[in-house]
Amino acid sequence: MIEIRQLSKTYRGNDGADTLALSETSLDVGAREIVTIVGPSGCGKSTLLRMVAGLAPPSTGSVAIAGQPVTAPRTGTGVVFQASTLLPWACVLDNVLFPARIAGRRTPALVARARELLRLSGLADFEQAMPHQLSGGMRQRATICRALLLDPDVLLLDEPFGALDALTREEMTVELLNLWQRAPLTILFVTHSINEAVLLGDRVVVMSPRPGRVEAVIDIDLPRPRPERVEDSPAFVGYARQVRELIFGQRAARSTEVQP
Ligand SMILES: Nc1ncnc2c1ncn2[C@@H]1O[C@H](COP(=O)(O)OP(=O)(O)OP(=O)(O)O)[C@@H](O)[C@H]1O
Ligand SMILES: [Mg+2]
Repeated sequence: MIEIRQLSKTYRGNDGADTLALSETSLDVGAREIVTIVGPSGCGKSTLLRMVAGLAPPSTGSVAIAGQPVTAPRTGTGVVFQASTLLPWACVLDNVLFPARIAGRRTPALVARARELLRLSGLADFEQAMPHQLSGGMRQRATICRALLLDPDVLLLDEPFGALDALTREEMTVELLNLWQRAPLTILFVTHSINEAVLLGDRVVVMSPRPGRVEAVIDIDLPRPRPERVEDSPAFVGYARQVRELIFGQRAARSTEVQP
């Protein structure tokens, strides 16, 4: 579904110096797959996602979705970023309908669809509320509703729950999995949380420090739907340890292990 080929990004700084943010990254994501991406801060995760979203041009390489080259934002791709990107001057319903406005088709059917998404997210009573009147979790729910308005087949999420407390975060992760069970979505999900990466992913991509590239890809062979308390299972703990060791290096991982 998503083909990322030899993708690099170099940023030109104000002083003329170049920063290689992402180096020759290739990755294939199958239809209905959930791939999670973890890696140190500054390794180019957001840069990668922006290029897959068609929001930034690659320096070299290419991205294709469903066989079509990505050169601009695509209607079938929903995007959710960490910081709330809701328009502060528009009510929740208008925010969710924003993609319809951009596409020039705020039809009664899409208004009904927006209301339905808000109802499913427990935000039915907040259609007319302004973003600042919502909690952080409610704002991210509204942002996800907006990303789903035009029935995407690809959902790109960049640390969508990073600003939320641990409880809300867990709840939102479970909601995202429920959503994925119901809709034919291919998901690319960037997170700083190793547990979140293992809990959500069919595969976890571990990126190297800047300039980022794919350091390792780990297949997560856990049943779906993921059972409750799967985090306590030995398999889950093993995967999480494997990802942590890849991120922090074998030596760092050993030094934090409790000695017998
Ligand atoms: N618009 C930009 N102009 C110049 N440099 C940029 C720009 N965006 C990102 N960079 C640089 O590219 C590198 C990768 O940034 P990016 O935001 O992709 O990292 P990240 O992996 O998402 O980090 P984090 O985990 O902290 O969100 C960094 O060195 C950053 O300073
Ligand atoms: Mg980032």
